[in-house]
Amino acid sequence: MAFDRIWNFNAGPAAIPEAVLERIHKDWFNYPKSGMNVMEMSHRGKDYDAIHQRAVELFHELLGIGPEYHILFLQGGASLQFAMIPMNFLLEGKTADYIHTGAWAGKAVKEAKPFGKVNVAWDGKEINYSRLPRQGDLKLTPDAAYVHLTGNETIGGIEFFAFPDVGAVPLVCDMSSDILSHRFDARQFSLIYAGAQKNLGPSGVTLVILRDDFLQTAKQGLPTMLSYGTHVKENSLYNTPPTFGIYVIKLTLEWILENGGLEGIEKINRAKAEALYSMIDGSGDFYKGTVSKDSRSWMNVTMRLPSEALEEQFIKEAKEAGMVGLKGHRSVGGVRASIYNAVSLQAVESLIKFMKEFQSRNG
Ligand SMILES: Cc1ncc(COP(=O)(O)O)c(C=O)c1O
Repeated sequence: MAFDRIWNFNAGPAAIPEAVLERIHKDWFNYPKSGMNVMEMSHRGKDYDAIHQRAVELFHELLGIGPEYHILFLQGGASLQFAMIPMNFLLEGKTADYIHTGAWAGKAVKEAKPFGKVNVAWDGKEINYSRLPRQGDLKLTPDAAYVHLTGNETIGGIEFFAFPDVGAVPLVCDMSSDILSHRFDARQFSLIYAGAQKNLGPSGVTLVILRDDFLQTAKQGLPTMLSYGTHVKENSLYNTPPTFGIYVIKLTLEWILENGGLEGIEKINRAKAEALYSMIDGSGDFYKGTVSKDSRSWMNVTMRLPSEALEEQFIKEAKEAGMVGLKGHRSVGGVRASIYNAVSLQAVESLIKFMKEFQSRNG
């Protein structure tokens, strides 16, 4: 890379693969043969249409899902999905089950309540959201409208790798911070949603993957923009979509394919997470993980240092050493390294080296 870049551990918006940034840079003034930037194109023109269609196709390809899944690019962030899901799918007389694993799941619960009956099937509050529930912990409603869970708690640092068995009830998942970071069977979900700004591209686009049989159960008569049916019918082009963001997502998905698809990405993410956690575990409690080992996130590695003063010093010195974004979320404090797909093993190795040095000076 010809530019001075620093190691970016931001929680989101977050690092974008350098190969993607280079490609955007190359196409900046003249997207091949168009004579303009993608931002300047009509969303109804053929150049943009090809980008949009390829982005849709790549999700099918990477996730191994067929045409029964609609791929939507919406706006309003994952936060609007918290409300749109119950608005569309929490039908009269039904209950929606929510698995409350932390701050983000909590927001989803709050936004669902105005639309109908919500059953919190498990709440990790008593254990400070430090681990995932086990199957037997869940108090599921047999005939629920759907079960909602959060694939990865970005703030708390816990992540599902195996998903609960919910029988025939539709499973809905917020994958904002773990989408496309490892292999998983997408076919077990009726709806997956994710804000783009962690693993997919820039903020401003929300991915929704929606299975057609679930869509068929959606409520009618909702405001046009808040009805999934509108966006499915119009292929996310009912109004002007966030075209530039969708273009960056397409480039990011191509980058994932070039890196071995989900299998290749998983291999790198596993190596990154294992290296970082083993450094933490080998530090003699200087660095302490905040969650149960069996629930650890590969994407957001959360830790504490012996004092808040040392944490502050750590974050300050890391910045001076060219590493940013390490401050824990303001609601929980501590240190958090977000190591999404675009954060390289080299970046994680640099962080580990810095952590060792910092400990030897302060331990
Ligand atoms: C797991 C999770 N869900 C939802 C959100 C909210 O996303 P947005 O800011 O796109 O509304 C975030 C944001 O960090 C998140 O990490």
